[in-house]
Amino acid sequence: MMKKLAILTSGGDAPGMNAAIRAVVRTAIFNDVKIFGVYMGYNGLIEGNIHELKLSSVADIIHRGGTVLGTARSEMFMTDAGRKKALDSLYNLGIEGLIVVGGDGSMRGALELSKLGFKVNTIPATIDNDLGYTDYTIGFMTAVETATEAISKLRDTSSAHGRANVVEVMGRRCGDIALYSGIAGGAETIFVPEEDISIDNLIEKALNGVKRGKRHHIIVVAEGAKKNAYDIKKIMEEKTDIETKVTVLGHVQRGGTPTVFDRILASEMGNCAVKSMIEGKSGYALQSRCGDIKLIEIERALSIKKEFKSDLLKLANVLSI
Ligand code: F6P
Repeated sequence: MMKKLAILTSGGDAPGMNAAIRAVVRTAIFNDVKIFGVYMGYNGLIEGNIHELKLSSVADIIHRGGTVLGTARSEMFMTDAGRKKALDSLYNLGIEGLIVVGGDGSMRGALELSKLGFKVNTIPATIDNDLGYTDYTIGFMTAVETATEAISKLRDTSSAHGRANVVEVMGRRCGDIALYSGIAGGAETIFVPEEDISIDNLIEKALNGVKRGKRHHIIVVAEGAKKNAYDIKKIMEEKTDIETKVTVLGHVQRGGTPTVFDRILASEMGNCAVKSMIEGKSGYALQSRCGDIKLIEIERALSIKKEFKSDLLKLANVLSI
């Protein structure tokens, strides 16, 4: 029977990480397993910044953004020496298994530990929703809510002045935040990294809109889209004469209280990650598929390519005609 487990959060923080930590800690303690928190991601593992967590350590955090354990993107953990130190820290405390909460980089780190013989399960948490093996990652829906709220506010001022507003949202390789917030916010055009979006189409829509007396033009651009927000502004002003403003939402999308969806996803995944480990199932990534929480081998999970929902982009185009 497993006696000691640890948890860390790694990579970019995501709203709902705290709800996952709470679920992991409480499930472990419920099952008489001691649970340790590793502070500042893999760096904390290397430095031995590891402390036992109690029921009260995770009180009053389910509704908070960020992560009470802190997080980091660790360069040192990429090296053999770093990983050896990390393992030593775990063995020194008699810890037998680790739960890693984070995105694809964090999962790759966990896979390395698993290959070295350590028991690891991973929980997907990143606002980007860029992991192909799971329908949703923790934090994504909260980021979409934040972006949509901002778009709705920009729409008010856009209409008031008869301007266009270009809103840059996060997502270097994945356009899901742009896609979902763009649809929910009624954007005229959405630019994503996965597809080449026609500028001519954008201009035509804007000019037609003006003819119909439309006073707002919302353009949502993912940060990794093929055209950037400032280039789009320039082209809009050159070709339509519509005054165009740019708003870069940036890290505001990473904070804030997690939505109900993210809290429940995190609670279910945290619980399942620990229960599976206790049952002797390690080397797995937690997955949400059609509303069910499942396990999939970490290596296989990482090999599944994220599919872009082109149909949703088509829908956005139809609805913004
Ligand atoms: O965590 C994912 C993400 O928020 C991406 O959307 C964004 O491109 C990146 O992290 C920003 O990273 P950092 O906080 O290190 O600047």
